[in-house]
Amino acid sequence: MNATELMEYRRKHVPVFNEQKMKLGIFGMNCSNGCTISHAETTFVPTYKHNLAIAQQADDLGFELLVPVGRWRGFGGTTDFNGDCMEVYTWAAALATQTKHIMLFSTSHVPTVHPIVAAKQGATVDHISEGRWGLNVVCGWFTPEMEMFGVQQMDHDTRYKYAGEWMRVVKRLWSEQHFDHEGEFFRVKDGYLLPKPVQKPYPVLINAGFSPAGKDFSAREVDFNFISIDTLENGKAASDDVKRIARQSYQREIGVMSYGLVVCRETEREAQQAYRYIVEKGDWEATRIILNLLGVESGSFTKEHLTTFAEHFIAGWGGYPMVGTPEQVVEELAKLSAIGIEGMILCWLDYNQEIQYFGERVMPLMKQAGLRQ
Ligand SMILES: Cc1cc2nc3c(=O)[nH]c(=O)nc-3n(C[C@H](O)[C@H](O)[C@H](O)COP(=O)(O)O)c2cc1C
Repeated sequence: MNATELMEYRRKHVPVFNEQKMKLGIFGMNCSNGCTISHAETTFVPTYKHNLAIAQQADDLGFELLVPVGRWRGFGGTTDFNGDCMEVYTWAAALATQTKHIMLFSTSHVPTVHPIVAAKQGATVDHISEGRWGLNVVCGWFTPEMEMFGVQQMDHDTRYKYAGEWMRVVKRLWSEQHFDHEGEFFRVKDGYLLPKPVQKPYPVLINAGFSPAGKDFSAREVDFNFISIDTLENGKAASDDVKRIARQSYQREIGVMSYGLVVCRETEREAQQAYRYIVEKGDWEATRIILNLLGVESGSFTKEHLTTFAEHFIAGWGGYPMVGTPEQVVEELAKLSAIGIEGMILCWLDYNQEIQYFGERVMPLMKQAGLRQ
């Protein structure tokens, strides 16, 4: 399949490549507190039954993707943020059987799973979902989580080197048969994998690397880079940068998506109040633990930068907040589209209740604005 044929195949068969100008997804609903590090009241619970209800609403509304958080332990604080978290391959497999169109991703830490196991599990979920599975490759910046596996945490850039080799083995298993691999981290003798995935040449790959090593990994290996956006200007620079690296260094195209919390109400005042309420009820202890870990471990942010965005972490995991009336939320989505963002994975304080309102009030306006068909 040449590049044009591949694009055509994907446009027809793979939802994240469809013709919607602004793809829509959900982020983090498999974990306790989702993307709000807060005690703000909500009916949201990270149970399978509740996730299923949210997933089916998203599927019915025509959303393109569901991206879970890969998490093995909580961050502590008074919420033990994200501590109660469903495993992501089994989660994707189960939801695949209960949905029709939406893509299910698994967010997989490369040091916690051997590439043969990841490739096999992924190919299996791709079959269960009939070609609706994708992989979010993460390297593991939460050191206590990685140390729980009894392994020494690698330094930041080595983690991406490891991920690069991990990814090469996975891709070979998905597209070749009977190969040997001798690398720095892995040795595969007579590599064998059946069934191959449904999607050709392999399932959709995403990554949220933001550091130079992370962006380089994304530009080389995956279909979409997920960026964190603080200001639209910085978002545009980050998006342009990863696309430029992909073109210049690897002669390929990459898409860019992002994420953020939606707080949408009939009036701006109500929406702002609801946003302030999440922040006021914030678990600052867990937030400090996370910011400290990110500052030390991820290599992407300065300490100052992190403190400034503490509120954005409490209300939306450091994503781009979309707060206001349905019209204002659509204006924000239009601005994101204008800087080159092709999709947003959304979070809400109360996913199950608020997605319904989003479907009724925001999506028709997105259509009018030309962001959705
Ligand atoms: C949308 C999004 C989803 C992410 N999901 C996870 C996750 O589930 N588990 C995890 O350990 N890290 C996750 N990360 C962290 C990224 O993989 C990455 O480490 C982070 O953006 C910092 O970039 P860097 O690794 O290049 O420094 C996510 C980041 C973003 C923006």
